[in-house]
Amino acid sequence: MQEVMSRPDARRLRVRPLARGEVDVLQDVFDGLSVRSRYLRYHTAVHRLTPANRAALSAVDGRRRIVLVAERIGPGGWVAEGVGHLVATGSGRAEVAVEVVDAAQGRGVGRTLLRHLVTVAEALDYQLVEAAVLTDNTPMLRLLGRLFPDARTTVEGQTVAVEVRLG
Ligand SMILES: CC(C)(COP(=O)(O)OP(=O)(O)OC[C@H]1O[C@@H](n2cnc3c(N)ncnc32)[C@H](O)[C@@H]1OP(=O)(O)O)[C@@H](O)C(=O)NCCC(=O)NCCS
Repeated sequence: MQEVMSRPDARRLRVRPLARGEVDVLQDVFDGLSVRSRYLRYHTAVHRLTPANRAALSAVDGRRRIVLVAERIGPGGWVAEGVGHLVATGSGRAEVAVEVVDAAQGRGVGRTLLRHLVTVAEALDYQLVEAAVLTDNTPMLRLLGRLFPDARTTVEGQTVAVEVRLG
């Protein structure tokens, strides 16, 4: 699972599945999120990841919980710029969420992760992918709108529920 960015100035980006218990990558990406990005991701103020948070987020099983890591090659090796989560929520349904370190936002990493998450969801025969996005999260809403113009959106208080039918 690998992708080469198309822009001429872009250095190589790859996407790979997180291994079970690989908590350091999750911590690195969390550390690269601003206070606002953390709020947009978790819908509440989250200042640190507890060991329990890290364990839960990294408990991947290849089917009901999958995490993809987007990494860019640098002088010292691969550096994580973002992660995408897929979590089963019901029969044939999975929720996706993406987070990209602030220093790498706006360069296509989020789009790449979302595309890969949907490809994985289709391969696993999920019929519907959903995302819960805060109403003021313009970047995520625009990203979803561009990638999935036929998505169903429902506003529920401060949250937009986005549903994408697959297949
Ligand atoms: C939302 C997020 C994942 C997007 O990732 P990203 O790598 O910055 O986004 P991309 O570079 O792939 O941009 C894709 C599209 O998003 C939109 N976008 C990105 N940054 C934007 C910004 N600052 N303002 C408005 N739209 C923006 C655009 O539509 C862009 O497409 P375009 O350039 O063709 O117009 C990232 O900003 C992030 O991690 N935010 C904090 C956590 C979060 O909100 N997660 C989502 C929880 S559901």
